[in-house]
Amino acid sequence: MDVLVNNAGFNVYGPFWETSAQKELQMMQVHMVTLTHLTKLFLPGMLERKFGKVLNLASTASFTPGAGDAVYCATKAYVLSFSEAIAEELKGTGVTVTALCPGPTKTEFAERAEMADTKIFQGSLSSAAEVARAGYRALMQGRTSVVVGLNNKLMIFSLRFSPRNLVTKIGKSLLSRSPSTSQTAVRPSH
Ligand SMILES: NC(=O)c1ccc[n+]([C@@H]2O[C@H](COP(=O)([O-])OP(=O)(O)OC[C@H]3O[C@@H](n4cnc5c(N)ncnc54)[C@H](OP(=O)(O)O)[C@@H]3O)[C@@H](O)[C@H]2O)c1
Repeated sequence: MDVLVNNAGFNVYGPFWETSAQKELQMMQVHMVTLTHLTKLFLPGMLERKFGKVLNLASTASFTPGAGDAVYCATKAYVLSFSEAIAEELKGTGVTVTALCPGPTKTEFAERAEMADTKIFQGSLSSAAEVARAGYRALMQGRTSVVVGLNNKLMIFSLRFSPRNLVTKIGKSLLSRSPSTSQTAVRPSH
């Protein structure tokens, strides 16, 4: 196989002491263990053919701690770090690895995680088509990572100059429920 896309994922939203350990372990399995294992299984054939492309779904969440969504953000930090590291190892082999980092996007994701009323999902959302196009372009170009959308690019760039504790607090605020919707919000059931 020439192209592997590790896209499957979901979120377990809520304060860490309230969320389901079982669901979080499943999420860690899908985002980290399975993604790593599939990459391990497909790379030898790609290296033999001196051609192959791997696209791993990271996130803008890969760049920040996520108070209120701690395990999800940590798993996406893993995806970015792992992808960047093996992309570097594979330089000159004909095989590339690309980490795709979308911000909030209009899919089933937020509803499934019962977090559609959070501030981050009340802001401007990318379309799935926009994310898919950016991912496809970056994959074809063999780029190591791509952040989708100008606003997300600017936000990620600004993080480089921000103290980590400030970044953590901003992340917490964006991941909190929007005041205009929080009265009707359904608490996550785990
Ligand atoms: N939407 C966003 O705001 C956003 C932002 C950044 C990154 N991402 C990442 O983008 C990727 C795709 O998410 P999406 O936005 O397209 O969400 P989605 O609409 O909920 O789709 C998630 C996909 O992952 C599959 N999946 C979920 N849990 C799985 C499991 N345990 N085993 C196998 N497949 C599983 C789902 O399959 P079924 O439909 O069969 O369950 C579905 O195809 C994820 O890795 C997500 O973390 C999403």
